Amino acid sequence: MQAQIIDGNRIASQIKEELRDRLTKLHFAGHSPGLAVVLVGEDPASKVYVSMKARECKELGILSKQLDLPETVSEEELLKNIDYIQADPKVHGILVQMPLPPHISEAKVMERIEPDKDVDGFHPVNIGRMLMGAPGILPCTPHGIQELLIRSGNSPEGKDVVVVGRSNIVGKPIAAILMQKAKDANATVTICHSGTRDLAQHTKQADVLIAAMGRPQFIKADMVKEGVVVIDVGMNRVEDPKSEKGYRLVGDVDYEAVSRKAKAITPVPGGVGPMTRAMLMANTVRAAEIAFEKSQAKKH
Ligand SMILES: NC(=O)c1ccc[n+]([C@@H]2O[C@H](COP(=O)([O-])OP(=O)(O)OC[C@H]3O[C@@H](n4cnc5c(N)ncnc54)[C@H](OP(=O)(O)O)[C@@H]3O)[C@@H](O)[C@H]2O)c1
Repeated sequence: MQAQIIDGNRIASQIKEELRDRLTKLHFAGHSPGLAVVLVGEDPASKVYVSMKARECKELGILSKQLDLPETVSEEELLKNIDYIQADPKVHGILVQMPLPPHISEAKVMERIEPDKDVDGFHPVNIGRMLMGAPGILPCTPHGIQELLIRSGNSPEGKDVVVVGRSNIVGKPIAAILMQKAKDANATVTICHSGTRDLAQHTKQADVLIAAMGRPQFIKADMVKEGVVVIDVGMNRVEDPKSEKGYRLVGDVDYEAVSRKAKAITPVPGGVGPMTRAMLMANTVRAAEIAFEKSQAKKH
């Protein structure tokens, strides 16, 4: 069987094109969206992610600002900077690139960001709204996964979805989104993790398998059923002397072998990654609209 390759770059471009009308309306109302990104330390992967986000903003005409802070910045100083940045009315969205150095509480940082400006969707208020199925800002990667499924013609409705991984940024929120009694969700969701007794027994049941483990090529062909739809969230660097950089990126799924059994599969790179950035742009536009709607309501 030749699997359908779910092209994250194509779907992400489509989503960004759809934002243009909304952006034009905001620009004309003098309310151009602005995104502020805070980077702490020198982590090379974080630097790459931040620069990719700035590039996407530029492409869409979204104003982006970046604050670089040293690895040694204190938690208090970081929180002060967050307060200062989000007080600027031109900043509609703010995100602090994770991971943070161990002396800074990520939970405290996430809670400091105003829920309406929380374009990462990690604030407990937004997480609560997501769980309740109420409108709010959804976390970028899980929301991007839902869009990948829908727009590739692989709706999760009524399907058995197995998520491997229970992190706060991918596993838990994708499960919460897909279990909602709502259009484009309504799936029966199982979450697996390192405490799962027989992982393969669960993954073999999946109509849709979402792998978010951070373990290179862990999911093998004998762990999935024929006709499965696979979303590979993993982004793992593995040594590759043939590559100029000395490494290459692979997912959590053994792509070559699993794609021979799957109905559809996302590649790594080019699957979930571009969707995460597209959903960040969508969240920034939404945050600017929320601020605009609030400012209009105040006037009346
Ligand atoms: N493409 C993107 O935009 C994007 C965005 C975010 C993350 N990612 C990638 O996605 C992957 C996961 O990220 P994350 O932040 O969710 O990772 P994480 O916080 O490290 O969580 C990994 C999860 O996988 C589970 N796990 C690990 N080994 C397992 C095993 N052998 N069997 C069953 N479960 C296992 C862990 O279980 P326990 O809870 O029991 O420890 C944990 O819940 C990483 O490769 C990351 O780089 C990609």
